[in-house]
Amino acid sequence: MTSVLVKGKTRLRGEVTVNGSKYVALAAIPAALLADEPVTIENVPDLSDVRVFCDILRGLGVQATFADGVVTIDPRGLVYAVPKPELMRKLRASYYLLGVMLARFGRAEGALPGGDDIGPRPIDQHLKGFRALGAEAHIEHGSIKLSAQKLSGNSVYMDVASVGATINTMLSAVLTEGQTTIINAYQAPWIIDLSNMLNAMGARVFGPGTETIRIQGVKRLHGCQHSIIPDQSEAATLMIAAALTGGDVKLNNVIPMHLDAVVAKLRETGAVVVAGEDTVRVMGPERPTAVNVKTLPYPGFFTDFQAPMSTLLTIADGTSIVTETVWDERFKHLEELTKMGASVRIEGRSAIIEGVDCLTSAEVRGGDLRASASLVLAGMVAEGETLVHGIDHMDRGYERLDLKLAQLGAWVERV
Ligand code: EPU
Repeated sequence: MTSVLVKGKTRLRGEVTVNGSKYVALAAIPAALLADEPVTIENVPDLSDVRVFCDILRGLGVQATFADGVVTIDPRGLVYAVPKPELMRKLRASYYLLGVMLARFGRAEGALPGGDDIGPRPIDQHLKGFRALGAEAHIEHGSIKLSAQKLSGNSVYMDVASVGATINTMLSAVLTEGQTTIINAYQAPWIIDLSNMLNAMGARVFGPGTETIRIQGVKRLHGCQHSIIPDQSEAATLMIAAALTGGDVKLNNVIPMHLDAVVAKLRETGAVVVAGEDTVRVMGPERPTAVNVKTLPYPGFFTDFQAPMSTLLTIADGTSIVTETVWDERFKHLEELTKMGASVRIEGRSAIIEGVDCLTSAEVRGGDLRASASLVLAGMVAEGETLVHGIDHMDRGYERLDLKLAQLGAWVERV
């Protein structure tokens, strides 16, 4: 277990550059296996999930290298195999490999994925997508098993808007004969970016970013070079960190319109936010004002921003109600924050947060990646030195967030 020690009473100041999107990277890496030529993916964040995914690919005969933010994948050696379960269980996005293997070989098998422990994470909508294309799909002995005589395009209505199920259905459909229509698809910039990459490989994906995505199957996909969009969740975390500490931070490499929800909420707390073409500057208030927050699928207030935002609200002036509608157990960081003096009551899907004047240091543990990052943020404004365990989770979703915060003047040290 990696831990960090954080000294409190910091004000973040300066400039920092946001990395590429984790969600796109973790879908683009398996997507490369749909091509019959090498694929180059740029602006890839250095996350443990990215490295594990490259390891999984190597186990399937694929050449995969990762250096300086560039992943190069040569899929020509791809062979059918069942990926190592211990690797598949290390990350959530490993299940995208199954959609891709189904498309390439008409069958796929792999351990159920891992990922953050934030409440039940069913995959029924993924299976619904595969079945709509003609596959048999079962979960047996902790593994997903897919097989098909022949896949053909079809219409699939998603019962819930799901990032993962939308992506998996797209990946399994791009090489499938006929037209596939995904109704109630997840609408987000990272779905558009993945579609842009697939289309650059020769796929015919229409309507990403809307609730209906149409995919006209093609016979083959060729190589491409794709540069990934900036990561909204990392940007939001850094923006909230700036506001929380009453700091003044400029983020480079962002697409401000992707951050509208967090910009609006931070302004409600009293922060000044100035958006440029590909930058955003956040100047935090002396003390934030309490606000209510309700998480929703993008473009609503995205669930991944909730943990840092609710952390900020623990020191706000007034009482805030934070309602989490996407994940059942995403308030664990708030329970940890009570050790630091936060005043929080959880009632069902809502957290009622009464802002306190100041947090005090304690030994705390983050149980998922946004929780770990949020506890580090809390340590930066607390009195004293806070020890945060569970940093391995943070490293799955942020490229050295500790170094970025240190670059902005925080005192954060790995121990
Ligand atoms: N859902 C179903 N059935 C399914 C799939 C999802 O009922 O088959 C439900 C979930 O239980 C949840 C909702 O639909 O209530 C949305 O789940 P979604 O499928 O969108 O989540 P995901 O694809 O498993 C991704 C991110 C999460 C992020 C959610 C936001 C990756 C690897 N993970 O998860 O990221 O919170 O979308 O919807 O892309 C994080 O980075 O901190 C993180 C947890």
